[in-house]
Amino acid sequence: MTSAHGAIDSSLTVGEVDARLYGTLVEHLGRCVYTGIHEPAHPESDERGFRLDVLELARELGVTIVRYPGGNFVSGYRWEDGVGPVDERPVRLDLAWRSVEHNRVGTDEFVDWVRLVGAEPMLAVNLGTRGTEAALDLLEYCNVPGGTALSARRAANGHPEPHAVSVWCLGNEVDGPWQIGQKTAEDYSKLARETAKAMKILDPSVELVACGSSSRAMPTFGEWEATVLEQCYPYVDFISAHAYYEPEDDDLDSFLASACDMDAYIDGLVATCDHVAAKLRSPRRIDVSFDEWNVWYQSRLDATVMGSWQEHPRLIEDTHSLADAVVVGTLLITLLRHADRVRVACLAQLVNTIAPIMTQPGGPAWRQTTFFPFALAARHARSGVVLRLHADGPRIETQRFGSVPALEATAVWREAEGELVILCANRDRRTPLELDLALHGFDALGVVEHVTLTGDNPYAQNTCAQPNTVRPQQLTSASVNGGRLTAPLPPLSWNLIRLCSLGARRGQHSTAAKTFAGGRPA
Ligand code: AHR
Repeated sequence: MTSAHGAIDSSLTVGEVDARLYGTLVEHLGRCVYTGIHEPAHPESDERGFRLDVLELARELGVTIVRYPGGNFVSGYRWEDGVGPVDERPVRLDLAWRSVEHNRVGTDEFVDWVRLVGAEPMLAVNLGTRGTEAALDLLEYCNVPGGTALSARRAANGHPEPHAVSVWCLGNEVDGPWQIGQKTAEDYSKLARETAKAMKILDPSVELVACGSSSRAMPTFGEWEATVLEQCYPYVDFISAHAYYEPEDDDLDSFLASACDMDAYIDGLVATCDHVAAKLRSPRRIDVSFDEWNVWYQSRLDATVMGSWQEHPRLIEDTHSLADAVVVGTLLITLLRHADRVRVACLAQLVNTIAPIMTQPGGPAWRQTTFFPFALAARHARSGVVLRLHADGPRIETQRFGSVPALEATAVWREAEGELVILCANRDRRTPLELDLALHGFDALGVVEHVTLTGDNPYAQNTCAQPNTVRPQQLTSASVNGGRLTAPLPPLSWNLIRLCSLGARRGQHSTAAKTFAGGRPA
């Protein structure tokens, strides 16, 4: 066993956790919508066609905000196709995923569904094939209470109350050559600025996300953001970031260190935002919306299915492993460590397409390995303040990132509940790691529970036939003595440790085991 020694202090804070860090994406892509969230013929569907088993899992996942309808799909989407009587909706070709879109789910159904989940909608407007007018029309349809043509159309479609959508994305990955309606930074900036300006006149309460680069690997990363922000600065609130990770050449150690890339990505984005603020002498602060992130085996993308022009084909249905779940957990830790500047984040996506929840058409739904770190963090670190956590410990040599710490960790202090939540991972695949943290500035704390996601086989997966291969387990040897927490972290593990002020301890009990015992926790 090796050790990592460090400290946390209740007064040394990074920032408040924004609950919107626990967002996801529902895109019209493959089976995310159809036979994912919506399947009228399924025995467990309600009268609107929503699968109640999936709804229940989305609630258990703890998702707070859901981006829709894309992704790449939005860049060719006509939102008007998806509202009004379902039988009259047109069938279209979706050029992004080369599929057939019958529009049986659109904005109204999505907003109804997301409200049932208990989350808020985050809509993207089409700045690929369309522009300011269509964006304004959708905003009027969704947010104007009444007395206008499009608010009346919404009411006639069964929604007299406005949808009250707060967060809007100004297009999607517009810098990407794969995008329908790709643009240069200059062309996108002009369109985004004028659209944002008009949207804020129509509804000053909205928060707007300008497209950043499609990834940190794009050749124009940095330059793109600077150009877009210089043009749009007074009108937008966020710049977007997207990142997907997969092992290269089976190099698991580098893959397990993917969070190093995300960390540098966020630092670069924040620096660019602040550079533009300084140049413009603006007192406004632009934050990061990390609105697509996940593990994605893009090398396995089946081009034949993608080009087959089917209705909701099986596309990008990656099965995730224990190692993938540990990576997802470290990416979540990284997002939390930047809670001062990352205020929205969306795991892409929610169901079937690179997703924590999988379904069979007409059959069951189950939790992928990646479900667990997200659900545990969303439950126990959804609010509070992120504390600075530094620990010195063993390092691992990786081909891609050089020497990286075996430990990835952060802490969330929920003062009102008297609860301290430590989220931490041991990247080392062979050696257990003892976490040893001095706790400063807290009343006496005791351990409520230590939940770990680990196993001997990094490639272990949950499947329809074997949905419970990878599950969180309770460990019992974490303890607090003399103001120090010590907790053994198994090799290749993601962990959540809950500590509670001894005075507030009554009524505190472990919830994680119950959460995944098959039912919902009380
Ligand atoms: O999430 C899958 C795709 O990844 C999204 O449609 C796109 O925005 C990104 O490239």
